Amino acid sequence: MVLKIKEAMKGANVNKEVNLRGWIYRHRVSKDVVFILLRDSSGIIQCTFKKGEIPEKTFKKAESLRIESSVKITGVIKHDERAPGGFEVRGKTLEIVHLAERFPIGRDLSEEFLLDVRHLWIRSQKLTNVLKVRSKVFEAIREYYYKDGFYETHSPILTPGGAEEGPTLFEVKYYKEKAYLSQTWQLYAESILFALEKIFTIAPTFRAEKSRTNRHLTEFWMTEAEMAWCDLDCCIKVTEELISHILQKVAKECKDELKTLGRDPKDLLKIKPPFPRITYTEALKILEKDGMKVKWGKDLRTLEERQLMKHYDKPLVVTHYPKEAMAFYKPRDPKNPKVALCYDVICPELGIEIVGGSERDLDIEELKKSLKNKGEDISNYEFYLDTRRYGSVPHSGFGLGTERVIQWICKLDHIRDAIPFPRTAKRHTP
Ligand code: 4AD
Ligand code: MG
Repeated sequence: MVLKIKEAMKGANVNKEVNLRGWIYRHRVSKDVVFILLRDSSGIIQCTFKKGEIPEKTFKKAESLRIESSVKITGVIKHDERAPGGFEVRGKTLEIVHLAERFPIGRDLSEEFLLDVRHLWIRSQKLTNVLKVRSKVFEAIREYYYKDGFYETHSPILTPGGAEEGPTLFEVKYYKEKAYLSQTWQLYAESILFALEKIFTIAPTFRAEKSRTNRHLTEFWMTEAEMAWCDLDCCIKVTEELISHILQKVAKECKDELKTLGRDPKDLLKIKPPFPRITYTEALKILEKDGMKVKWGKDLRTLEERQLMKHYDKPLVVTHYPKEAMAFYKPRDPKNPKVALCYDVICPELGIEIVGGSERDLDIEELKKSLKNKGEDISNYEFYLDTRRYGSVPHSGFGLGTERVIQWICKLDHIRDAIPFPRTAKRHTP
């Protein structure tokens, strides 16, 4: 039976013969011993082939290996304090499934080169660990929503228009017409809501971002939720619970990966709802005290969000942003019409926005006015306005940028490492 390396390293297998298969992670030949670090998706183990203890042919084969060759190895597993991980396989047989060409990735290679060979760099320990955390984040999102009675549902990727900032729309040819890649599922969600009431999605999202920052992708995965009969407070609570559920699950089920990435799982375990909440106007006051004056009405920039987060070690919910700076669907607060019933969540450490959400404006005339102010052609939004014509209900929703959350959890300098094949303003290959 073939064992995964992680299984093989369980104490009960000591002195037993095991069959492993994987790739050569390190290879070193001394006079009488070939040392191999073998990796598979579960871990890394040292294997040795000793001259004299195995047929000369097998020894020669072990000597001839190259990094990233794929192999099958049989051997007896032993405790060995000197070996990384504390175990070693004393190799008996070796089958080379594919002898790799010289692997182009060595040490100290530039970021640009590593992006050129992303399809090979994806096997690195760092990316392997991030991909495992990423998988867990997606699992946690689905687990949270299903447990709470949400339906998973999907909106088209090819759309007639956007809902967020116009300039970030990617235009594509749609036969003889123009279409745009989806910026958000939201406008469709607000229709599907009438059938399913509580819905979510995890979907590719496209934004032709001009800014080349460490937190912007042009293609990313957003998880969005939309809930009927739910106001701002209810929506924020769902957001807090979702974030906390992701962090708790990853902390418990990806301990080793997190530690290798330099993240103490305890940092995540302590983040539980409720999160601190302030209004936009209060945020400006804090910033002003810190010597950073922001004109009322301007959206917060990253540099300001980062400064704000120097005061918090939990995600911060900032509510009631100026209405005019917001997307057209965010409603005015009846108590203060200058602000909208909306919020962002900013994460600690990185100080970047991970969630944007709001109540949805139910007033069809206000919606039309906002669309017009933003220079939109209302005829493209008739399907959306119909959601306010046939049994309109109060509802709210939000979107969470999964890569930003993964970037934060995994302590990544750049968001591109939170996704296997990043798409940024600078690059759409390989
Ligand atoms: O704040 P945004 O633009 O909100 C919406 O799209 C709403 N329609 C969501 C909703 O209410 N259903 O985007 C939501 C989140 C941001 O907070 C951020 O985490 C992430 O999506 N995001 C990006 N992540 C990576 N690269 C980009 N270019 C991103 N743009 C937004
Ligand atoms: Mg936003």
